[in-house]
Amino acid sequence: MRFSTLSAFLSIPAFALAQSSSASASASAASASASGAAGNSSDYLTAVLGALTSAGLTSLVGAAQGIAETPEGQALLGSLAQGNKTVFAPSNAALSNVSQDILSDNALLTQILSYHILNNTYTAQGVATAPNHTIARTLLRGGNYTLPGNFTAPLVLAKNSTNGSSFEIVQTTSNISTSVNATAANLQVYVIDRVIELPQSIDTVVSSLAPQLSGLVSSIPGLADQLASADGITIFAPNDAAIGAIQSSLGQLNSTQVTSVLSNHIINGTVVYSTGLASGNYTSAGGEPFKFISNSTGAYVQSANSTAKIVQSDIILNNGVVHVIDNVLVNTASNPQAAESAYSSAVAAASTSTEANAPVTATSAATAPSGSSSGSSSSGASSAGFKIEPLGLTNSMMGGMVAVVGAIVGGIVTLF
Ligand SMILES: *[C@@H]1O[C@H](CO)[C@@H](O)[C@H](O)[C@H]1NC(C)=O
Ligand SMILES: *[C@@H]1O[C@H](CO)[C@@H](O)[C@H](O)[C@H]1NC(C)=O
Ligand SMILES: *[C@@H]1O[C@H](CO)[C@@H](O)[C@H](O)[C@H]1NC(C)=O
Ligand SMILES: *[C@@H]1O[C@H](CO)[C@@H](O)[C@H](O)[C@H]1NC(C)=O
Ligand SMILES: *[C@@H]1O[C@H](CO)[C@@H](O)[C@H](O)[C@H]1NC(C)=O
Ligand SMILES: *[C@@H]1O[C@H](CO)[C@@H](O)[C@H](O)[C@H]1NC(C)=O
Ligand SMILES: *[C@@H]1O[C@H](CO)[C@@H](O)[C@H](O)[C@H]1NC(C)=O
Ligand SMILES: *[C@@H]1O[C@H](CO)[C@@H](O)[C@H](O)[C@H]1NC(C)=O
Ligand SMILES: *[C@@H]1O[C@H](CO)[C@@H](O)[C@H](O)[C@H]1NC(C)=O
Ligand SMILES: *[C@@H]1O[C@H](CO)[C@@H](O)[C@H](O)[C@H]1NC(C)=O
Ligand SMILES: *[C@@H]1O[C@H](CO)[C@@H](O)[C@H](O)[C@H]1NC(C)=O
Ligand SMILES: *[C@@H]1O[C@H](CO)[C@@H](O)[C@H](O)[C@H]1NC(C)=O
Repeated sequence: MRFSTLSAFLSIPAFALAQSSSASASASAASASASGAAGNSSDYLTAVLGALTSAGLTSLVGAAQGIAETPEGQALLGSLAQGNKTVFAPSNAALSNVSQDILSDNALLTQILSYHILNNTYTAQGVATAPNHTIARTLLRGGNYTLPGNFTAPLVLAKNSTNGSSFEIVQTTSNISTSVNATAANLQVYVIDRVIELPQSIDTVVSSLAPQLSGLVSSIPGLADQLASADGITIFAPNDAAIGAIQSSLGQLNSTQVTSVLSNHIINGTVVYSTGLASGNYTSAGGEPFKFISNSTGAYVQSANSTAKIVQSDIILNNGVVHVIDNVLVNTASNPQAAESAYSSAVAAASTSTEANAPVTATSAATAPSGSSSGSSSSGASSAGFKIEPLGLTNSMMGGMVAVVGAIVGGIVTLF
């Protein structure tokens, strides 16, 4: 049933995608795509899915078949052809760990897959070296993932300092390796062995990373809701040790003062990743200015006389970002007028903001490999003469996977 919908969408024979488990089936998929190759987007998608099938990524192709039944899914698949993209392709093993409930929820699956696609070409060369990060925009936006300026939710990338030839997707638990890679037409494909988690809500993140802060926030009526519903937010979250260390002085503050202290850990209306901290003047939700310092021992944030070290940066929220700090910024001052004015400026800035769809990194050397600013959209992929380069996946990470290298150039299929 699914195949008929997908086939209509892709305008290819159903058998071509239905049979995918052997090299000869792959060959037929690839031939089917090549035989109809007139350079339109259906042919393009057919070729891409054929290449993924040939590479053994059959579960991912199955997921694509699922979402192709919905308008959102079709839009996502259609956007693959527009400009250069990076695709993090979960292996069959990775997708086998995803519950059937999720896999059969095409709306959710579309969001998950949107979060696996970056809107440009990213290679290790252009990615910052840990502990620095590259903030890379995905195709996930809207609904629960609305950010100021209609920006898409980003992923955090970093090169391991001991291995400069590949980079990792930074996650709160453990990073995801992207060492298995290939290019196909306008796509840079990395096979990953874990599905990337969608950005989480502030509640979820704070209650797991800074439980005591969570308790403090819930002691202020309405604050948790304000944070969760904020249209873009940056939070410097003191860890448990930090709150534990000043527990007694916190106890001496009344609720107004506690509210001010907490507000001075928040930037309201603006999402500032680690890459942007040093380059702007930011005012807290309490109306107090932040200061940022970076030196050989790390990055620090200051409010009035309090300084804290940022110990974990860039935890992506559905509506912003959290940076974990090792000290409470005990600034009880507040300036509601300055806070309101900062928020209004943020809203105004968001409505006109444009950010290059390029890697945003802390290092000047780490720039986009290509096309970060030009308005010209004549990439080979979306034009008539599209071209699929050989899709060669190295198999260091995929136990048992046999990589089939397929080349479709100008409508001619070659399988090696
Ligand atoms: C992707 O980049 C192109 C070109 O820079 C831009 O026009 C488009 O809006 C971007 N898409 C998303 C989802 O950010
Ligand atoms: C937003 O999140 C809520 C709670 O997790 C969920 O019930 C709802 O379906 C989500 N909405 C969208 C558009 O994803
Ligand atoms: C955000 O961008 C998407 C894709 O370009 C567009 O469909 C949507 O209308 C935009 N939303 C807003 C609020 O501008
Ligand atoms: C960097 O790579 C080495 C070797 O692969 C690994 O042992 C180490 O844990 C990695 N470090 C980080 C921060 O990922
Ligand atoms: C692809 O993987 C190989 C082997 O791990 C590595 O040397 C190369 O730098 C990777 N290419 C990209 C674009 O990440
Ligand atoms: C952000 O500012 C708006 C407008 O002043 C306000 O309604 C909202 O409660 C503020 N949010 C936070 C978390 O301070
Ligand atoms: C909290 O203490 C400050 C400073 O002593 C005082 O100005 C304020 O009125 C107090 N607020 C409440 C709710 O007691
Ligand atoms: C921040 O504010 C200071 C003092 O007002 C000013 O000198 C500096 O240029 C500002 N920096 C940025 C990036 O706006
Ligand atoms: C870096 O700055 C922090 C905050 O001001 C300071 O505590 C620390 O001593 C500085 N480290 C060095 C090496 O200067
Ligand atoms: C910050 O320190 C200065 C000098 O040590 C002191 O005069 C001032 O009152 C302190 N400010 C706050 C908000 O604690
Ligand atoms: C991280 O970025 C800072 C600021 O640009 C730079 O000084 C530092 O050398 C970078 N660290 C690494 C490991 O690239
Ligand atoms: C896509 O990448 C290719 C090769 O790096 C480059 O020539 C082309 O200009 C890029 N296209 C866009 C739209 O950025």
